[in-house]
Parts: sequence; C-alpha cells; structure tokens
Amino acid sequence: MIENQKPTALITIFGATGDLANRKLYPSLYHLYKKDKLDQKFAVIGVARRELMPDQFQEQVRQSILEHVGTNENLDEFVSHFYYHSLDVSNTEHYHDLKNLVDELDAHYQLNGNRVFYLAMAPQFFGTIAESLYKQQLKSDNGFNRLVIEKPFGHDYPSAKELNDHIRLAFSEDEIYRIDHYLGKEMVQNIEVIRFANAIFEPLWNNRFISNIQVTSSETLGVEDRGRYYEGSGALRDMVQNHMLQMVALLAMEPPIRLNTNEIRSEKVKVLRALRPLEGDEISNSFVRGQYNAGVSKGKQVKSYREEEHVDSNSNTETFVAGKIMIDNFRWAGVPIYIRTGKRLTEKSTKIVVQFKDIPMNLYMKTEETLNPNLLVIHIQPDEGITLHLNVKKSGQFVETTPVKLNFSNKSVDGMNTPEAYEKLLYDCLRGDATNFAHWDEVALSWTYVDPIAKAWEQTKESSFPNYSSGSMGPDEADKLLEKDGFHWWPVTDLDVENC
Ligand code: BG6
Repeated sequence: MIENQKPTALITIFGATGDLANRKLYPSLYHLYKKDKLDQKFAVIGVARRELMPDQFQEQVRQSILEHVGTNENLDEFVSHFYYHSLDVSNTEHYHDLKNLVDELDAHYQLNGNRVFYLAMAPQFFGTIAESLYKQQLKSDNGFNRLVIEKPFGHDYPSAKELNDHIRLAFSEDEIYRIDHYLGKEMVQNIEVIRFANAIFEPLWNNRFISNIQVTSSETLGVEDRGRYYEGSGALRDMVQNHMLQMVALLAMEPPIRLNTNEIRSEKVKVLRALRPLEGDEISNSFVRGQYNAGVSKGKQVKSYREEEHVDSNSNTETFVAGKIMIDNFRWAGVPIYIRTGKRLTEKSTKIVVQFKDIPMNLYMKTEETLNPNLLVIHIQPDEGITLHLNVKKSGQFVETTPVKLNFSNKSVDGMNTPEAYEKLLYDCLRGDATNFAHWDEVALSWTYVDPIAKAWEQTKESSFPNYSSGSMGPDEADKLLEKDGFHWWPVTDLDVENC
C-alpha cells in the first residue's frame, strides 16, 4: 500500500558535501518542493566529515540549485529546511550528537518519526553506518525508517552478501531501498506499460515472433575523475550487473498478477533465475570486452583509458562490454538478448531494439532482396519515445515496399523535460513505493550471473587492449558476436528519433 502522496520526513544525507548530493539530490528535492510534492514539514540533515557551519551548508545547497536548476524561486525558504552535522562515520560517539539533532528536528517540524537515511558515499561505510544508526537508536519507533543505498552494492556475490547481512542486522528488507537510477528513468518505467497496456505487443512478445533483442547503453564520456573506482570495477560491474540486467528483466518478465512492488519484483526475479549461466568457453563465445584507445570524441582529441588519471598504464579493466544473454524459459528459449555498453563511444544513447522475425514468405521483393524486419525501438535517452518500423507500399504504379517509421516522442507530447530519475526515486522512497528499487534477490542473482565472467576476465589478461578507438562503437568482436548468429547491431545513430 503506497503511503501519503505528500510525505513528511526527516532526510539525513550521508555524503552531503559530495558530488551526487550536489548534482542530483538537492536539485531533486528542490523540484519536489516546488511541485508541492513535499509537505512543508520536512527537514534535511547533511552529514559529512568536513566541519561546516549551518549557513555554509545552506549556501552550498543554494549554489547546487542555482547551478543545476537555474532558478531561485522560494530558494531561501527551501534551504531554511537544511541543517548540517559533521561526523566521522566510524566514530560511534558522533552518532549520539546526530541523534540529538534528529530528535530535535523531529519535534520542531512534527515529522512523526518518519526518517530516510540516504547513504551517498563510499560503499565501504554502508555497513558501519547502518549498524551505528541502529545501535545508537537513530531509527524511530513511531514512524517509518528507510535506508537508501547507492551502488555499488558489493563487488561480487560474496561481498554483496556480506554487506547485505551486515545491513540486515539493522534494517529489514522492506526498509532498504537499493538505488538503480535506471529504474527511475521515464522510458525504463515505460517498458512495462508498452508491453502490458497494448493488445498488439504482448501476443507477439515471445520466441515465436521475436528474433532478437538489442539493448545498447553508450556513453561519449570517458572515465573522467573516477579512475580509482573504475579500475576495480570495469563496465561489467559498473553497468551490466545492475542497469543492463534490470532492463533485460523488465523486457523479459511475465505480466505480474498485480502492479504492486512484490509482484513486479517477483517476476523480475524469475527472469534473473532463468538466465543461462556461463562457464568455460561459453564466456568468450558469449561476452566480449573492450578498452578505449585514444581517438576523436565529439570532435575533440581524447586520450586512451590507460592514460587517464589513477588508471594503471597496463590496465586490464574493460570500458566496454557486449554480451549475448539467453533466458532459459518457455517464452524466451532460443531468443538472444544482446547487450552492449561502453565509455567513449560514438554517442550518448540508451536504446532497446526489439527485432521481430521475418515474415515466412517474401511476396514483395525480388528474390535477392529482403524486406526490412519490423522493429520496435524504445528510446530511453537522450530521446524518450518509441518507434515502430513497418513496411508500406511505395507510392506509384508498382507494388513495391518502402520502410516507414511510426514515431512517438515523449518530449513533443509533454512539451517539457520529464523528471530526473533521482527526483522520481526520492519521491517513491518518501511514499514507501519500493517497486523501482532493487530487491536483494535481484542483486544476488545479478552478481551470480556476472561473477564467472568477471573472474574469467580478471584471470586472463586481454592482450588486444586497447582494442577500440574513442568515438567508435567498440571493438570489432562486438559486431562478430552478432554476425555469428546472422544478425547485426542496429546502428544507434540511424535509429535516433530525429532521423525517423
Ligand atoms: C552509473 C555508472 O551507474 O551510470 C557510470 O557508475 C555511468 O559509470 C552512469 O556513466 C550512466 O548513467 P546514465 O544515466 O548517464 O546513462
């Protein structure tokens, strides 16, 4: 049951001076505030190690809004809800003072004991913070207590389990909100609606009519200033274990019996359980890794991954992954789901292409030609929309076909930007809707799938690295992966909404 649409709560943000808080969390809270989705009775405590006076912190929040939202409407009033507490997360004494502030604000704003603890900081502290919040009695007895955790949730299955066990000593599964910001994206949420609210798709959504599915999430940026983290992660852990597999689960799940958190999550879990595990040679037959070389990205010369800051000059870390995922269940047997993601690729784009099987007999073309297959393209970002590729008659005397695209663009309908993923997810969390957060079972199964691949790649040094130029769409092996099956990647640029 989803709670109050205008929730009241005390939001404590650990990592309050960090990048995520400044770029995403404060602007998202401001948007909610401006849209009147937050009750006037709310307060935010920023927690970080640095010593800051309350007004310095409020000034930081103000700057974040000015920079990322660009307006100052009601800004003074908004920032007046922000408080600051300097804390060393591993010092239990410090939580005592934090508790005093929490209790004081709870009473002052009449927050009914509703508490959100948002951990926007390095993962090695997640367990310690959760435990201290519990032991130092920062959880309330009367309202709700919710712990929001950023990724990465572990490094592999054993470390994720250890972390989860630690956190679960302090918070129940229902109280834990594991962020996967892809689940907050408008068009990722739309996958379910496109599938289950349209009579024309669901009957075709299976191995009788779909030949393959392609999920591409490409980035133009390199590793930027995250070399230290990324070296130990790579694209497989950074993108595939979470965002890519979440999209696969939404594409492949059975219709839930009800649109509620437990039913939807349980259908996604079934998909993740049905992923065909890979071992031995199957790994290199099904997954390809890449690392970017220097090149030209968006007209600018850029350096190779190995030349980036905090990156080993001989690094074996992948910045690109392409893979073929098979789902061993009745609906999907035999249908490859290809995924690819990487940094320093041609364009910033996330798209899903559902390719339908060819019609059994080609009536309309000369024998050497083939008809274009029907495609359903779901544009996740930066465009938001769907395109259906069909064949129609070319106007004129003869019966010849020509491809057409039926296009729906979210932006042109709404005439405005859809809310940021973080805004939606924060609002969901405040309302107690955990549907778009990852349940532990999903996290565990995703790691179980990814671990053997990560292990194999760690154990064998990839001698071809760097194997793709910045500005390209990854290594040639990624194309060969599909060619072996008689397919090819649908070029993301050709599928852009403006090219339709
Ligand atoms: C994050 C990854 O989870 O997702 C980043 O850690 C990546 O490396 C980012 O750049 C991509 O998100 P988006 O929303 O820009 O596609």
